[in-house]
Amino acid sequence: MRTALPVLAMTLLAGCSGETTSRLATPVEITGDEITAPLLGLQGDAVRGETVFADREQGHCVLCHAVEGLDAEFQGNVGPALTGVDARLNEGQIRLRVADIQSLWPDTLMPSYYRSGGLNQVAPAYAGEPALTAQQIEDLVAYLGKLDGERT
Ligand code: HEC
Repeated sequence: MRTALPVLAMTLLAGCSGETTSRLATPVEITGDEITAPLLGLQGDAVRGETVFADREQGHCVLCHAVEGLDAEFQGNVGPALTGVDARLNEGQIRLRVADIQSLWPDTLMPSYYRSGGLNQVAPAYAGEPALTAQQIEDLVAYLGKLDGERT
């Protein structure tokens, strides 16, 4: 696992005021290692989020992440298991990691799903378009935010 140091450094650099980044598909304010506001003000749906997570045509997060109890044929372990992820990350932290994890760790294997430019690991056909829509990302945030079954 990573140390918290890079994130801490960024938090200090960004201060408390927040910064708007233009490398994402729509203007998004990043504060420290969080995107606190829902993308485009959209409301996420955890049930849809589970589908985005598992579906090969959508997020296909199961390629690299496992979730206990998820009904999916194959679940990978390239990334950390996400069962209970909401006990270690808050909603805003989860949102930034799904939207643009490469802004935290440029060399990570995980794609930045809401970037519209400078994408790594995305087929040319998708250049210019984010890999997931704002709604799909909010659905994932809602789903991942409920994985320990304790918080709502
Ligand atoms: C190609 C593999 C890969 C795919 C696909 C992938 N991830 Fe990741 N993910 C990772 C890796 C690796 C990390 C750990 C970050 C690091 O150390 O590079 C990570 C970290 C995360 C984290 C932070 C977890 C923590 O405990 O800090 C979240 C949340 C996350 N991924 C969600 C998702 C979601 C949602 C999707 C699908 C839209 C997804 N990931 C797709 C590889 C992947």
